Amino acid sequence: MPALINPSILSADFANLERDLAKIASADFAHVDIMDNHFVPNLTIGLPVVERLAQVSPVPLDVHLMIDDADRWAPAYAEAGAASVTFHAEATQAPVRLARELRARGARAGVALRPASPVEPLLDLLDELDMVLVMTVEPGFGGQSFIDGTLPKIRRARAAIDAAGTGTWLQVDGGVSRDTIRLIADAGANVFVAGSAVYGAPDVAAEIAALRGLADA
Ligand code: DX5
Ligand code: ZN
Repeated sequence: MPALINPSILSADFANLERDLAKIASADFAHVDIMDNHFVPNLTIGLPVVERLAQVSPVPLDVHLMIDDADRWAPAYAEAGAASVTFHAEATQAPVRLARELRARGARAGVALRPASPVEPLLDLLDELDMVLVMTVEPGFGGQSFIDGTLPKIRRARAAIDAAGTGTWLQVDGGVSRDTIRLIADAGANVFVAGSAVYGAPDVAAEIAALRGLADA
């Protein structure tokens, strides 16, 4: 499958989200970071805003929930119109049940891992998951540098997904740029989130094309 490029609107202008979504019409998904000031030390947006973004976005929404008690809150994001909803493994009591609830609401179901969390507990559940997200920075903020120590985990996840034959997407989020994307693609990721690299570029569409070209090279 060709690489997917999902710009993170965490680096967009929060006073102009519709305008900044229009800038990423050539991307695959818009990555939307939901933070609750508990699971991570930062606060962004919630359901009412996501519902409106889903109505105006030129591309489907890839919602990344960095919130406690995902079991309680995640299904509502699928109902709000997100095409993909990713919750953190560290914030759920029942990942399989929650993934099934998301799929039943028509969304793709993803599970995310902090940089220090092992991927192994997810590897027996791959047929229940549409995506595994390996965080390559500590979640909470854009513009941090890529943690190289996560590469072996990406490789292990890729090997397990290929062995299982589930076609589960492998997403990477944090520090993705022209400098790091080739290395990450070589490790086996096929879905790339990039916030500061895309929205910090002078030509957003050109940056998306450049990242896609490097990932697929
Ligand atoms: C961080 C968020 C990321 C963030 C990535 O917790 O999950 O999606 O926007 O930002 P960059 O691409 O700047 O590292
Ligand atoms: Zn994210």
